[in-house]
Amino acid sequence: MHILVGVTGGIAAYKAAGVIRGFTELGHTVKVLPTQNALRFIGATTLEALSHNVVDSDLYTDVDSVKHIALAQEADLIVVAPATAAFIARYANGVADDLLLNVLLATKAKVVVAPAMHTEMWQHPATVANIETLKSRGVKIIEPATGRLTGDDSGPGRLPEPDEIVASALSSVHAQDLSGKTVTIAAGGTREPIDTVRFIGNRSSGKQGIALADAALARGAKVNLIAINIDIDLSRFANVTRVSATAELSTVLDQMLPVSDVIYMPAAVSDYRVANIEPGKLSRHDASELELKLIANPDLLSGLSEKRNALGLKAILVGFAAEVLSSSGNADELKSKANAKLHKKNVELIVANDVSNGAVFDQDSNQVLVVSSSSSIEIQGSKLEVANQIIDETIKLIG
Ligand code: CTP
Repeated sequence: MHILVGVTGGIAAYKAAGVIRGFTELGHTVKVLPTQNALRFIGATTLEALSHNVVDSDLYTDVDSVKHIALAQEADLIVVAPATAAFIARYANGVADDLLLNVLLATKAKVVVAPAMHTEMWQHPATVANIETLKSRGVKIIEPATGRLTGDDSGPGRLPEPDEIVASALSSVHAQDLSGKTVTIAAGGTREPIDTVRFIGNRSSGKQGIALADAALARGAKVNLIAINIDIDLSRFANVTRVSATAELSTVLDQMLPVSDVIYMPAAVSDYRVANIEPGKLSRHDASELELKLIANPDLLSGLSEKRNALGLKAILVGFAAEVLSSSGNADELKSKANAKLHKKNVELIVANDVSNGAVFDQDSNQVLVVSSSSSIEIQGSKLEVANQIIDETIKLIG
């Protein structure tokens, strides 16, 4: 999506940095429109570096390109964070006296405003009336949080945390087609301990799973995220369970099965674990060889399918298969391997990708084949775009 982030001149302007980063990390194209006063609080250099786009707050440059109209038309979503009382008053009264307000008056995109000011200003009848006016015109207002304000005072008026603003803004443009559904996602890669300091692991970054969690959240789902050795910030998710080894993952999945409408398994699960985990630290003892005995882990996805069917539960199960093919790009081979896994694991969807050239790990984009018993479709794009299309396919199965 093309997202415009408006920044107005309040002390919370520094938090706009987190909002911009939140959107870009999800793969969105971001342009920032600071007011002149916002630039007293946060520098254009910071905004440019984080948005990867030139920042221009002046209505009277590049006039020949009629940029306020171009910006207004290309935006899919406009988020103003923080929004001061003065900005809200001007916007509510249609006063287009800077680039941001000109764009806002010219756009048909969804607009989300996150006010931040002292409690007295937030509760002033003028601000209350202006907010009501904006709401009545379809602007989404993200209510300020209660907490410490600029001085010693505290109360309602604080700008919510950037992650909350990002999630709330995105949910306003997505259909809430997962509203009332519980989605469990196991993301990352398991680690099987060898001793207390070493493990056998894998290269899964967890990014596709996190993108699924972001997409499901934006579409109204209750998201249970099982984070398997993931280092990235997950504070935007309310329900995160952290696990490391396959046995821990298995326990949490069993707990989630009865309460889930969908379980996504992009997790890279170790097929084997070390038979005798050394208590303490294995010592070299100058040995020239060391043999580790490995024993098979259960196939968790197949196990979930069996339990679901035995207990008459409803969860749709979605497996992920990273396949090394006889020749990279062999679409028929990928499809037949995905179909074989669909039946072997007795699940509703398999999302398969070709990792023959090792390119997919830790990347921000992905190319996959989504196979069900009746269809197979190819998807490529950012991991968030891929996530949304996987969810589209899942929703067809939920009905
Ligand atoms: N999976 C699982 N339990 C395991 C191994 C894998 O639940 N012990 C899940 C993965 O999370 C993934 C799907 O099964 O969603 C497919 O994983 P993959 O490693 O491709 O499947 P395997 O059954 O291990 O097949 P292969 O023989 O190709 O390794």
